[in-house]
Formats: sequence, structure tokens, C-alpha cells
Amino acid sequence: MNLPPVLGAATSAFQIEGGREDGKGQSIWDTFSDEGRLADRGDIACDHYHRYQEDVELLKGFDAYRMSIAWTRVLPDGVGEVDQKGLDFYRRLIDELLDSGVAPWVTLFHWDLPQALQDRGGWANRETVDAFVRYAEVVVEALGDLVKNWITHNEPWVYATLGHIEGVFAPGITDWQTGLAVAHHVLLSHGKAVPVLKQRGGSVGPALDCRPSRPATPDDEAANTHFDGFRNRWYFDPVFGKGYPADIEETYRELGRWDGSLVQAGDLDSIASPIDFLGINYYTSIEIRTGSQESDVGKVAPGPGPPPGYTEMGWEITPAALTEFLQRVDREYSPASIVITENGASYSDGVEDQRRIDYLQQHLEAVSAARDSGVPVDGYFVWSLMDNLEWVSGFTQRFGLIDIDFDTQVRSPKASYHWYRDLIANR
Ligand code: FCB
Repeated sequence: MNLPPVLGAATSAFQIEGGREDGKGQSIWDTFSDEGRLADRGDIACDHYHRYQEDVELLKGFDAYRMSIAWTRVLPDGVGEVDQKGLDFYRRLIDELLDSGVAPWVTLFHWDLPQALQDRGGWANRETVDAFVRYAEVVVEALGDLVKNWITHNEPWVYATLGHIEGVFAPGITDWQTGLAVAHHVLLSHGKAVPVLKQRGGSVGPALDCRPSRPATPDDEAANTHFDGFRNRWYFDPVFGKGYPADIEETYRELGRWDGSLVQAGDLDSIASPIDFLGINYYTSIEIRTGSQESDVGKVAPGPGPPPGYTEMGWEITPAALTEFLQRVDREYSPASIVITENGASYSDGVEDQRRIDYLQQHLEAVSAARDSGVPVDGYFVWSLMDNLEWVSGFTQRFGLIDIDFDTQVRSPKASYHWYRDLIANR
């Protein structure tokens, strides 16, 4: 296989850390948890805040680790006082990674907005953009000597849509105008943070989620184009300087979801701030039919069953669509470098997880095929290093290379962990 030079695994702060202590502020996901809106509470998760040394030990042999910083550990209310204890935790963790030969790839925003900022409108309020830039400044000042790869935002579509249009994720809002305002401000803050994070020589990019789609029949082409615009182009186009896609803007205007008034002079240039790499999170693709809900909000329709098979999230297994999507991104946007910032599968098979090995093998082959055809894919991160709190699904969906017993916090590497570590060692 023509593997990317950087192979690692990923997690995010809320999903693994626990540790609501040492001055940490409340995030919107803590609130969602407190309100009983998750299948399991998030107070402890994988207790990584206390067990990070054990977890770093298990990362030995990986090239890189993608983690996120909890904004509420660094600035408990989002804007005011810096909590030195929070920064110290990340410094200890990153020192430990570097001592173990693992390069940290650090995400600034993996959805856990300080509740204090949500109380002032959250990402629908343009002031949150400035708050994020300050947060980026504080973090790069504290950790920029150690961290060389930064990811601004994780999955803006999911954050904006599931959190503010569908309302199933925190903060639980159901309003199109709010959702599109959130998306714009998240993208704007990405662009404004890029030069800040580069100040100390770091490489910077966003982690965009994608959902490649295909029309069920030739009659479904128009619905498919609309879905692709809503789900993919609305984010990829502005990041690469193409502005918002005109066809989708028109639809949103007609439906009263968007009048463009929150896009101020200079915003589109800021969003298109040159990035060093494009992070792509890939799990599945989707078939689109005219008139189906999927063409609007991205619900995955139940498919015909195996083959090709589904993971326990109900996501269709479509590795070929990853190769095609990477080739398309290369053709249409020409990023200097692409990193698969997440790819993985949910299976509750315990440590004998051959199905996860198969999924990862197929997707690494898909990445390898893209590289063979000249697409610059330079990194790949498995989601996830360990079983963790899968947002509203709690502990029921297990994506880890490492099994976690959530009663005892015992870590048990799965067959996929050994397979992946050997693959890295023997490449
Ligand atoms: C992505 C998220 C990540 C994890 C995986 C399964 O959407 O970025 O935190 O939940 O899905």
C-alpha cells in the first residue's frame, strides 16, 4: 500500500477527558449532559484527565495523535481569565507525547463551546469570532513551542446543522437562520485564526466533514446536486476562496433561511485565508432520491443491507467513494496537502474486532489509491484511539482501537490496535 507518511489516531476533549475540576468552566456539552440529553453522562468519560499517561503509553509506535483542547479549561467563561491549571494539563500531556515520539495534532474547537458564550448567543453571535481568535492566541502563546500542527475547527457542518438546525446535538436549537449564522461565524473564525496559529511556525488547517453523494437514478441528479451543495460545497467552496455556492444561496434565500446580510465586507477573504493542509473526516457516502429528506438535512436512508454492509452507526461502508472524493477535492480545490483527520467504524465486538480491521484496511487502500493517482494525502488518523463518549449516543457506539470498560476504566487494546501498530512499524 502507498500509505501516507503520517499515521495516527484521534480523540476529542469532551469525549474522553472527564475531569470537571481545577477551575474548568461549563461547556454546552456539559449542559447537555446535565440535562440528561445524552445516553450516558459525560462527567467522567474515559477519565483521560487523570489517566493521560497510561493513554500516551498506548500511543507509543504511532506517528501522531490528534487531540482537542477544551476551551473551558483554558478560558472557563470563554473570554475572561485564563486558567493556568488547564494550560498546564495540556502542556504535561503534550510533553509526554513528544517524549514518546508522538507528534501532537491539536484541534482548538471540537464543539465544546463555553456555556457562558452560548448564553450570549453562541456562534450565532459575531462576537464569538473574536473570542475564538483570543482563545487561539492564548493557546499558541502557551503551547506553540511544542505543537506544530493545528486544526482550527472540527466538522463545521455537523456543529452548525445537528446543533442548530436539527437540534439533536448541543446546544439543541432548531432554526435554519441560526444554523447558517453559526456556520458563517465558525468559518470566519477559522480563517481569522489561521494567521494567529501560524505565528510560531505551525501548519494549520480545518477538519471538514464530507458526505459524498450519488443520485439513485438519472432523474435524481438535481436533488443530488442540491444535497452536495448543502452538505459539502457550502463549506469547501468558501474555504478555498470560491465564496458560497450560488445555487444553494438562491434556494436558501427563497426559503427565507438566509439573506446574506451577515456576510460583511472582507469576510469571504478572511475565510479563504491560505491553509497548509485540508483535514477531511470521512465515514460514509449516501444515495440521494428526489423529494427525500436526505436532499435537505442529510439523513441517511436505510439501504439495501449487506453487501456493502453497515457499521453499527447505520453508516454504509463505501471506501471507493473516499478515493473518488479525494480526487474530486484535488481537482476542484487543489489543496497543497490533505490529511484524513478522522476515519473509523463503530462495532461492539470487544477486543476481537476483525470487522474494524477490515474497515480500516479497505479505507487505507482507498487512500492509497488516491495517492497513486497523484492526490497529496499526507496523513491519516483513525477515529478513535479508544472507545469514548459518542456524543448523544453515550457509550453505546464504540469506535476505539482500545476497548474501555466504563465501570473500571480498564483499557484493553483490541486486535485492530495491534494490527494498526504493526502496519505502522512495518511500512
Ligand atoms: C465525527 C466527530 C467525532 C466522532 C465521530 C464518530 O462526526 O467529529 O467526534 O463523534 O464522528
